[in-house]
Amino acid sequence: MIIEELDSVAAEHELPVLAEVMQACVEGGASVNFVLPFSQADSEAWWRRAVLPALASGERRLLVARVEGRIRGTVQLAFAPQPNQPHRAEVTKLLVHPEARRLGLGRALMTRLEAMAREAGRSLLLLDTVEGSAAQRLYESLGWTALGVVPGFALSTDRSRLEGSAFFWKQLA
Ligand SMILES: CC(C)(COP(=O)(O)OP(=O)(O)OC[C@H]1O[C@@H](n2cnc3c(N)ncnc32)[C@H](O)[C@@H]1OP(=O)(O)O)[C@@H](O)C(=O)NCCC(=O)NCCS
Repeated sequence: MIIEELDSVAAEHELPVLAEVMQACVEGGASVNFVLPFSQADSEAWWRRAVLPALASGERRLLVARVEGRIRGTVQLAFAPQPNQPHRAEVTKLLVHPEARRLGLGRALMTRLEAMAREAGRSLLLLDTVEGSAAQRLYESLGWTALGVVPGFALSTDRSRLEGSAFFWKQLA
């Protein structure tokens, strides 16, 4: 497995596979802001609209994990835009394709992301995830501090219920 950073040009080139990873995660029930139905075209449109411009402007940075050359996981670091929070960033869209889970991609992406944030001078990171999810266990194992749960934060992917979101922070050394 290889972890690498993609700029906006490289991300545009890889857009179909980035969108495929997200679409497969949402299809599999991952709660990452979308609800079903969520097509490959919906996913590509989101990457093009929300991610490529933010990469080009430097507001976000993107990491991918490749297995045998093919992108199977990804995560983004979104820099806080507030002038009084130049030391803060948010972690968003940690996604590992359902076929590539439990191989260490998620952990490797987060470890590299923390190093990237540190190098960029961002020492305080925040994120949120579905209460009780696999991601929550990953963040706990990486030393993130749980702030608490906001009940009923978001619709489940199939829209059948509201799910709580667990908020975490980490101060990088
Ligand atoms: C959360 C996610 C990114 C984990 O990716 P992954 O590559 O499978 O994770 P790793 O193999 O690096 O696992 C690291 C650790 O996380 C925990 N973990 C991961 N998946 C788990 C699961 N299904 N059940 C329990 N613990 C789990 C374990 O502690 C694991 O360590 P171990 O394998 O040594 O026990 C992946 O399940 C995913 O993409 N989920 C859907 C999208 C999502 O919810 N993203 C988070 C948005 S905030």
